[in-house]
Amino acid sequence: MAEFLKSNDTATETKYPPLKNPPHHVGIIMDGNGRWAKANGKNRLEGHNAGTENLRRTLESSVEFGIKMLTIYAFSTENWKRPPFEVMGLMKILEDVIDRELAELHKNGVQLRHIGRLERLRPAIRKKVLYAIDLTKNNDRLILNVAFNYGGREEIVQAARRLIQENIPADDVTEDLLSKYMYTADSPDPDLIIRTSGEFRTSNFLIWQAAYAEYYITPTYWPAFDKTEYYKALLEFCQRDRRYGGRKE
Ligand code: FPP
Repeated sequence: MAEFLKSNDTATETKYPPLKNPPHHVGIIMDGNGRWAKANGKNRLEGHNAGTENLRRTLESSVEFGIKMLTIYAFSTENWKRPPFEVMGLMKILEDVIDRELAELHKNGVQLRHIGRLERLRPAIRKKVLYAIDLTKNNDRLILNVAFNYGGREEIVQAARRLIQENIPADDVTEDLLSKYMYTADSPDPDLIIRTSGEFRTSNFLIWQAAYAEYYITPTYWPAFDKTEYYKALLEFCQRDRRYGGRKE
C-alpha cells in the first residue's frame, strides 16, 4: 500500500477542498462486486478482489478526508448461503488482506477491529484476525471495523442473551446499557452509511447503531466507487440537516 497522502498536498486540496464537518464514523455496504464482475466479463471472485483493491484506496481517501472510523460490511451472516467457492473465496480474501497488508496498515496508523462472530471461521484465520487486532490496538489515525460474519439482528440477540446471563434487572436495561452489549460497544454510532450499487436496503447492517445515521445510496458498483464519488457522498453529508427527531427553532 502506498504511503497515505499527507493532508497538505496542494493538488489534492484543489480538487477536494477540505470538508467542514466530515462524518466521524462512516459505514459502507460494499455492494455490487458480482454485477461489476459480470459487466466486465469477470467471475464473482475477481469482482470481490477488485472490491478489495477499492477498499485499499478508500482507506487512503478516508484518512485524507478526515474520517476517523470506517466500518465495512465484508461478510454478513446471510452470506453463508452463497456457493461454497464464493464463501471460501471471501474467507481467503480476509486472510490474504491480513497477510499482505497488515504491516502497511499498522505503519499507517490504522487500528483494526472486528465486529460479528469469529467462531465459525477457520482457527487459522481467527488467530490472524486476533493477532491483527492486538498488534494495531494503540493506533489512532483511522479505526477500521471489519464486519465479518456479522448480522445486526444476531448482534441484538447476543446482547439480550448476555444481559439475561448476567442477571441484569429489567429496569436497568436502557438504550445506553444495551449499546454497551453490542459488538460496537466502544464505538460512536455511524454518522453516514454509504451503500453502493443502488439498493435501498439496510441488509441487517448496524441496524441498532444506524438509528440516526444519514444514508447515501449510489448506483455505482463498489469496485468503481472511486475517490471522487466518495468525496461527493461526504460533501452531501456535510450539507444535510441532522435533527435527530427534533425540529429547527
Ligand atoms: C457484495 O457484493 C459484497 C460482498 C458480499 C463482499 C464484500 C467484500 C469485499 C469488498 C472484500 C473485502 C473484504 C475484506 C475481508 C477486507 P455482491 O457480491 O452481493 O454483488 P452483487 O449484488 O452485484 O452480486
